[in-house]
Parts: sequence; structure tokens; C-alpha cells
Amino acid sequence: MEKTRFIREKYNRNSKFYNLFEFPIEFFLYKHWRKKLFDKVKGSMILEVGVGTGKNFKFYNNNRIIGIDISEGMLSRAKLAAREKGIRLIQMDAQKLAFFDNTFDTVVSTFVFCSVPDPVKGLKEIKRILNPKSQVLFIEHVLPKNRIIGWVFNKLNPIIRSLTGVNINRKTVENICSAGFKIIKQENLFFSIFKFITAKPLK
Ligand SMILES: C[S@@+](CC[C@H](N)C(=O)[O-])C[C@H]1O[C@@H](n2cnc3c(N)ncnc32)[C@H](O)[C@@H]1O
Repeated sequence: MEKTRFIREKYNRNSKFYNLFEFPIEFFLYKHWRKKLFDKVKGSMILEVGVGTGKNFKFYNNNRIIGIDISEGMLSRAKLAAREKGIRLIQMDAQKLAFFDNTFDTVVSTFVFCSVPDPVKGLKEIKRILNPKSQVLFIEHVLPKNRIIGWVFNKLNPIIRSLTGVNINRKTVENICSAGFKIIKQENLFFSIFKFITAKPLK
């Protein structure tokens, strides 16, 4: 609970500068990856977890999209884009989703599970609300496999975390498996610092 409040407050505080701060990496990398992810979004019931300022919204062409985020500051910046696309925004913790079991066809999560305090708990919640034929699409920061870069990331993590709420050393692929998913595809991005992961719930 303490950790969740810390993350929420961090993102509330940083929400004012978030888009500005992210602009270079968004321009050169993220926007291309987002486009690729959205080619795979399917179904009529879509949940996006940790929508942030709504950077994914322009890519949606689906019917019923719900976006959640823990931070009211980030959500307030996503409001306008959400209204244009008819996306329903709710302030909610990914670790405690207020949805029925087997509800969604696709869950989207971009750069979120580096911040969720208990990632496996959040991933288990996603598994619960996905229907058996569904999928989850992630783009996430991970601990790089290279031993030297991994060592540097582990050393830097406490500083990055205290400034931004982001962990740069999470083993997210392993966490996804522990939560009860089957990895369908994983693709290394930018020196394997990021991964594009497609997974299915084992139900
Ligand atoms: C790095 S930002 C990414 C935002 C957006 N997905 C994007 O691609 O730009 C991480 C987001 O996850 C949200 N978040 C962190 N922990 C969360 C949780 N437990 N439940 C829901 N959202 C959470 C943060 O508030 C923040 O908006």
C-alpha cells in the first residue's frame, strides 16, 4: 500500500513534465513500437493498463476501450485524447482490478510493469480478467541480459526509481510466466533493454 502510494505520488508530480521529458525517446523509438503493437490489437473489449497521458490512444480503432491508471495526474492529461476516441478512463490499481473474470479480449500495457509495485500480483489480475481466447500485448523495460549492462542497470536502479518510480531492472518476462501466461512471442528492442511481448493466459 505504501509502495503503491509512492508510485502514484511520483507520477502525479511528474505528470506535468512527462510528455516533454519523454519527447526524444518517443519520437525516435516508442512511437514506432506503439504502431507495431497496435497492428496486433484485436477483439471488441480492450483494456489498457497504465494509460499514462494517453500516448497510445491515437492508434485505437476498437469498440469498447477502457483505460486505467493509478495516477490522477497522468489521467487528467489523458482526458482530452480519451474523449476524442470514446475511451472510458478509470482511476484504478492494476494490482486490484474492479472487473469481472474473463471480460477482455486484449489487454495492452506499454512501459507499465516497470512501475507496478507488485508486478506478479498485477499480472495475475490481468490474467483473471482476460477471457480464455484472449491475449496481452506488452512493451516493457527489462533487465538486459548483457552482464555488464545488467550490472550498471542494477546499480542505477535505486536512483532512477526514487526520481521517477520506474525500475530499470525488472525481470518482466519471468514475471509474466510466474503469473500464469504462456509467452507467444518476445522480441528484443534497442539492445534488449526493452521487449515486445505477446502472451496468452493459461486457462
Ligand atoms: C512509464 S508510464 C507509461 C504510460 C503509458 N503506458 C505510455 O506508454 O506512455 C507508467 C504508467 O503506469 C502507471 N502505473 C504505475 N503503477 C500502476 C498501478 N499499480 N496501476 C495502474 N497504473 C499504474 C503510472 O501511473 C504511469 O502512468
